[in-house]
Amino acid sequence: MMNHLLALGDFSKEALRGLIDRALALKAERRQGVRHQQLAGRTICLLFEKPSTRTRVSFEAAMYSLGGQVIFMSAKESQLGRGEPLKDTARVLSRYVDAIVVRTFGQEVVEELARYATVPVINALTDLHHPCQVLSDLMTVLECKGTLEKARTVWIGDGNNMANSWIEAASVFGFPLSLACPEPFEPNTTILERARSRSPLPIEVLRDPAEAIRGAEVINVDVWASMGQEAEQEERLAVFRDYQLDATLLAKADPKAIVLHCLPAHRGEEISEDVLEGPQSVVFDQAENKMHIHAAILEQFITGSLVQQG
Ligand code: CP
Ligand code: NVA
Repeated sequence: MMNHLLALGDFSKEALRGLIDRALALKAERRQGVRHQQLAGRTICLLFEKPSTRTRVSFEAAMYSLGGQVIFMSAKESQLGRGEPLKDTARVLSRYVDAIVVRTFGQEVVEELARYATVPVINALTDLHHPCQVLSDLMTVLECKGTLEKARTVWIGDGNNMANSWIEAASVFGFPLSLACPEPFEPNTTILERARSRSPLPIEVLRDPAEAIRGAEVINVDVWASMGQEAEQEERLAVFRDYQLDATLLAKADPKAIVLHCLPAHRGEEISEDVLEGPQSVVFDQAENKMHIHAAILEQFITGSLVQQG
């Protein structure tokens, strides 16, 4: 069976840990100047329907760093934008490239592509999940905290794609996760219930960010209006006003807590300037790790060396 990376909940702890450990090894080797060629002669297609800075460039840099080639295609400039079916697109692209990396709106788009593709389909963000991002976030947690099972983790803000992928990560690795989300911006109920049924530790959804952050060692925030929700920006600003991660809120966390933000950040909205630029913020290490985790993903999915499907 073809392996696709559509959501973290589809994988075992061993498989995800294997990707993170490989990314750590590739990062260390890059620092030492080691050159790789294991994807020489291989090509990926990036099929993006939403903007991107980090994910696009880090996937491209990762593929080149392993000796491979990249074709970028904006969905609206392709025949998809003129109504060509996903199932035809998946089968055609599979004849040309060794993996398809997709950023789109509906999760059903990546699922449909995966159903018909004969090469791996990698989810580079949908409205429902951002699995590759959360893998690089977990890598950053492992570097900073030395564990993926114990760090008390909090999510503050919108119950969005990132929150959903963090919930799945908590259920796979078994770390305690609290989310503070205003009504009606809780995470996806189906994802939450499935994760809770698998997780050895509680995944709790609270209203009060001060209650959720108490004692937290890993703190996550993200924009209040995701891509595609621009029309709701003003309304959301009002609802989320009390959810900003500022120095007062951060002071309630563990003193050694790290602050994660997948970026881009809206300073003065979900995070204050001083916290984003402060000593507890690891957002640029987190951004760098995207490239290493993407290299590990491309290597393991394209060569078929993924440790174990869950
Ligand atoms: N974090 C992230 O996915 O950033 P981009 O939207 O710039 O890719
Ligand atoms: N939740 C954000 C993440 C951006 C990387 C969005 O979907 O726009």
